[in-house]
Amino acid sequence: MTVETIFGAPPAPQPEAREAITIRRPDDWHVHLRDGDMLASVLPFTAAQFRRGIVMPNLVPPVTTSAMAAAYRERILAARAEECDFEPLMTCYLTDATSPDDIERGWAEGIWVAAKLYPAGATTNSHSGVTDIAALAPVLERMERIGMKLLVHGETTDPQVDIFDREAVFMESEMLPLLARHQGLRIVVEHATTAETLDIVRAHAGRAAATITPHHLVINRTSIFQGGLRPHLYCLPIAKRERHRLALRKAATSGEACFFIGTDTAPHPRLRKEAECCAAGVFVGASALQCYVQVFDEEGALDKFEAFASLNGARFYGLPLNEGTITLHRRPGRMPKAVPVAGDEVVIFRGGEDLPWSLGEIRP
Ligand code: DOR
Ligand code: ZN
Repeated sequence: MTVETIFGAPPAPQPEAREAITIRRPDDWHVHLRDGDMLASVLPFTAAQFRRGIVMPNLVPPVTTSAMAAAYRERILAARAEECDFEPLMTCYLTDATSPDDIERGWAEGIWVAAKLYPAGATTNSHSGVTDIAALAPVLERMERIGMKLLVHGETTDPQVDIFDREAVFMESEMLPLLARHQGLRIVVEHATTAETLDIVRAHAGRAAATITPHHLVINRTSIFQGGLRPHLYCLPIAKRERHRLALRKAATSGEACFFIGTDTAPHPRLRKEAECCAAGVFVGASALQCYVQVFDEEGALDKFEAFASLNGARFYGLPLNEGTITLHRRPGRMPKAVPVAGDEVVIFRGGEDLPWSLGEIRP
């Protein structure tokens, strides 16, 4: 499959178009690195693109304590190649039993950068998530006081709600009340997928932000059914209608400070994707920057790419900007189809395609 087969040929490059772009090294503010063999296989791809990554805690069992997070961080550091300077930023998986004191201790110890709120049952390994967000108030008040960010998977778990409406319903029924109750809490709406979510984030810019994935900028819900069912395009939140994809592209390329990279790269073995019940997740870790920069190029917004990739997220998190640069070239590069993992493989988003942009040099 190519993007062209879904959306038609991209606009021809402008005559004065740039052949390369160099930006401050970017960060991935939403990444699933998994553990064990999978971690070893996928980490090099994220580390080749990003200086830091917010590591999602939905392992089995979930990363609910600072001791678990510290041990997981060590496993990630140990899986890095010798010269690799990728820095994992750890998150706490919130449950109904999370205590404000534990949160504050892990924050004071410098282990947590943020906490992740999964509504119980919303997505992969979220069964231990939160069943009643209002009851989490003591934890959220403590986070508000110490300045710890809240990262939200914004989908309702009500099985009566149509899967394509789950984000919209969550934003109205949970996110707006949450923003009203905790006016000092800084919240990242993860993997935003609707135009209305983007507007809610804009209306609360300064204390709310959103990550936007590469795949939600490239595919819409029809792509998942293009010529047959395409399990490797199934993720949560599921891709929405074309008007939402266009709104996401406009937001990402706008330069607005409340929008930044979060790839949500979520690898699953091919056997778990091409299965009777397909696991949710797109492995975009190998093609993320190439996809993002292509979108900025197509939108005539290469001058806004650095803000989205390397500035807005760090500023929202109150972290220093990275030193060093990465260069991307407008030079076709064949993306490998899949990455081998322990007797199976993980299919890469847009794997097998000749992508118009390629990764170039990193200067630390
Ligand atoms: O598609 C998804 N996959 N969405 C999530 O929220 C979780 C992720 C995963 O961990 O596989
Ligand atoms: Zn995720």
